[in-house]
Amino acid sequence: MKIGVLGSGDVAKALAAGAVHHGHAVQIGSRDPGKLRAWAAENKAQVGNFAETAAFGELVMLAVRGTAAAEALRAAGAANLSGKAVIDATNPIADAPPTNGVLKFFTNLDESLLERLQREFPGAHLVKAFNSVGNALMVDPKFPGGKPTMFVCGNDDGAKRKVAGLLEEFGWEMADMGGAEAARAIEPLCMLWCIPGLLRNEWGHAFKLLRKS
Ligand SMILES: NC(=O)c1ccc[n+]([C@@H]2O[C@H](COP(=O)([O-])OP(=O)(O)OC[C@H]3O[C@@H](n4cnc5c(N)ncnc54)[C@H](OP(=O)(O)O)[C@@H]3O)[C@@H](O)[C@H]2O)c1
Repeated sequence: MKIGVLGSGDVAKALAAGAVHHGHAVQIGSRDPGKLRAWAAENKAQVGNFAETAAFGELVMLAVRGTAAAEALRAAGAANLSGKAVIDATNPIADAPPTNGVLKFFTNLDESLLERLQREFPGAHLVKAFNSVGNALMVDPKFPGGKPTMFVCGNDDGAKRKVAGLLEEFGWEMADMGGAEAARAIEPLCMLWCIPGLLRNEWGHAFKLLRKS
């Protein structure tokens, strides 16, 4: 599959390198593509600006600062996102510092960042995923307790099926939590995931949903 990754930070690089590793054709995008050229050449990815990268992808991944997520999608262009699955790995982390290891969000429990983005880009099929684990564990995570669970949500079932396939390749079990509103619960998993890291510098964990059957 052709995958366009919007972002130049650790998450974008982890997801782009993982997708290349699993056999996909990948383009990574930034407002300043020049800064990614050496990395892209080393990692067998193409590079472009946000619009070129969104146009390249049959599936698009959004991995930019939460406060810039809407701006990045505007730069990507609604037409380049229309009808495509767009994995949203962002978290609505506010600029204010954490309190006792608990991050501050600029959203509230009745409105997630994913819903805001979905409202502004109705043609894109947004799927929340990869926001509740650190970038070092996003691809091929290995835990003694088995595959960790990736909680996902979004309004389009076809897009979620595509994401399910990718998660399977990346070594995850997917838990579909339903429509866009479920991001109100999935985004704060990032706060929970970060607490051991921010309090005790422990970052080597992931969530698992245990089922009776
Ligand atoms: N770090 C993790 O392990 C982790 C884990 C799960 C989820 N997340 C979430 O994933 C996202 C990416 O995290 P990160 O740590 O890789 O990177 P980051 O430092 O949060 O974000 C860097 C990216 O944000 C873009 N950006 C910043 N300001 C912008 C603006 N005004 N307009 C457009 N784009 C702008 C940058 O674009 P340019 O390339 O153009 O500079 C760059 O690609 C965040 O939302 C974060 O909460 C992070």
